[in-house]
Amino acid sequence: MTKITAAISAVGKYVPEYVLTNKELESFVDTNDEWITTRTGIKERRILKGEGLGTSYMAIKASEDLIKKSNINPEEIDLVIVATATPDLPVASTAAYVATEIGAINAFGYDLQAACSSFLYGMSTASSYIESGRYKKVLLIGADKMSSIIDYKDRATCIIFGDGAGAVLFEPNSEGLGLQDEYLRSDGIGRDFLRIEAGGSIMPATIETVKEKKHFVYQEGKTVFKYAVSNMADVAEKMLIRNNLTEPEIQWLVAHQANKRIIEATANRVGVSSEKVMMNIHRYGNTTSATLPLLLADYEKELKKGDNLIFAAFGGGFTWGAAYLKWAYNS
Ligand code: UT7
Repeated sequence: MTKITAAISAVGKYVPEYVLTNKELESFVDTNDEWITTRTGIKERRILKGEGLGTSYMAIKASEDLIKKSNINPEEIDLVIVATATPDLPVASTAAYVATEIGAINAFGYDLQAACSSFLYGMSTASSYIESGRYKKVLLIGADKMSSIIDYKDRATCIIFGDGAGAVLFEPNSEGLGLQDEYLRSDGIGRDFLRIEAGGSIMPATIETVKEKKHFVYQEGKTVFKYAVSNMADVAEKMLIRNNLTEPEIQWLVAHQANKRIIEATANRVGVSSEKVMMNIHRYGNTTSATLPLLLADYEKELKKGDNLIFAAFGGGFTWGAAYLKWAYNS
């Protein structure tokens, strides 16, 4: 019997229209374009404006882009996973709403939260459903409205994050294309270094928590940087070693867009040259769960059937990991 692998068969994206430049940030906090560019590689990021618009708005737009481009019938989708750290509402599943809105009326949907590694972990989940034969079409969306949890008076975080969404469809493949291997990790040591202190079950919202700005992202950048650099490079390298891959056999490095210096360090360890490193951090900043699918959408035209892609991500928790995927189509 032919082995069934889980391949990405379509991608879609959405980024909000509003462009928040480094220059504009200079009017909120004590920072400057030169510092942001040299320390992070970010020039601008997108911000979702408009009352009542949450993460689902972008997730729906990215899914509609995918559906339009690929011509699939949304009624055939079995499962919708929304990878996100900023769900619309704390309890109601964002994915359930997204599924209904895009016409995936036969699907069930749930959210998956693993901070900046949400999409990478979601790739594992989506692929497992396909490989097992349980489902045939799994829509995995990475979407975050980071602007809803950022303090625009905190220069340590407001310069980094942006809003956006990307979507991919996983389907069975009988040519051996799609997900080949993965190595996913987590370590609870990270929870003090990158988090939102209040609003969860440990510290529910009160007037004080709001006044003390405990509902915004706090990040000890230097510490997170150190862990991210070594861990992302380690797992990416592991993918190569475990699969006997050499540099010429790798076409693309698809790394979480948190900081250009972290991405370059990972590329150096894996030994791939800069033209093989997907990069859009300069345009979108760190969109958390959306970085990896936004890269795939932006580079889709350059991807060829059979290309070997190495994914890597690192995020709060800590959570991190890498995956090796063979691209399944020419566009
Ligand atoms: O996606 C989830 C995982 N997250 C990450 O991977 C992020 C990891 N961390 C980082 O990317 C970096 O640590 C940051 C970009 C957040 C910060 O860069 P850094 O090189 O680690 O800077 P730093 O925090 O060590 O600060 C260096 C200096 C400090 O001044 P002094 O103490 O040397 O005088 C800061 O006060 O830069 C100052 N600084 C700023 N200056 C201008 C910090 N933020 C800013 C700013 N503009 N926005």
